[in-house]
Amino acid sequence: MTTFLVVGGSGFIGRRVCRLAVRDGHEVRSVSRRGQPAVDAAWTDRVSWTTADAFRPDVWRDRLDGADSVVHSVGTISESPADGVTFERVNGDAAILTALEAERAGVGTYVFLSSAVKPPGVRNAYLSAKRRAEAAVADLDFDHVTLRPGPVYGSGQPHFSAVVNAAFRVIGSIPPVASRLGESRPLPVETVARATYRSALEPDESLLDVEDIRSLGR
Ligand SMILES: NC(=O)c1ccc[n+]([C@@H]2O[C@H](COP(=O)([O-])OP(=O)(O)OC[C@H]3O[C@@H](n4cnc5c(N)ncnc54)[C@H](OP(=O)(O)O)[C@@H]3O)[C@@H](O)[C@H]2O)c1
Repeated sequence: MTTFLVVGGSGFIGRRVCRLAVRDGHEVRSVSRRGQPAVDAAWTDRVSWTTADAFRPDVWRDRLDGADSVVHSVGTISESPADGVTFERVNGDAAILTALEAERAGVGTYVFLSSAVKPPGVRNAYLSAKRRAEAAVADLDFDHVTLRPGPVYGSGQPHFSAVVNAAFRVIGSIPPVASRLGESRPLPVETVARATYRSALEPDESLLDVEDIRSLGR
């Protein structure tokens, strides 16, 4: 049995990673600001939910005790500087902070959900923060895997409108069209979650692009 800590385990992708790990009988812990998601599903009772801000490791550090694998699934596509929500902090610093904590705790594997592309209309800092965190994580003393998906669609997608989510679903289900989009190829959330979970269980490649994620997450 593997013990997982999913930072952002209540989110769109993170909660599916938690569900997969629970299904296979692993111990699963999650840290997020609002704690347990409002999902009426039996598997949620088998996750140990901690309500904490990633930037307050003093509150959640003990969740790393005995953890084998950390998945970092925190990010934002919109900023609110007054609340400390900037791309630099949330897409970059948060990952570096949790990775440093994981290294200090002796965790064997760290999986970082990065991104292949910048969503339209957002500052370049969205992606430069991700790349900065990728480089920092790669320097630390554990097995690491960075996943770089493009847009991710599926039920409960919180970032795009229903119309955009549906359009991605249609595009994603027509391989000749989807494959032409390269790094912007939309992927189903289940595929991304499976690739993330499998990487956390058995790290192989250290960097997974959109096609690698598609293949591993099948
Ligand atoms: N969805 C996509 O289309 C897509 C595409 C490419 C890459 N990605 C990457 O995949 C990762 C997950 O994306 P997602 O779509 O699942 O995002 P999401 O649904 O917004 O989930 C983010 C998770 O992080 C938590 N979180 C946010 N700020 C936090 C903080 N300061 N401390 C602790 N927890 C915090 C959120 O819960 P609370 O708000 O309760 O804290 C939530 O559990 C992100 O790194 C994102 O950049 C996503």
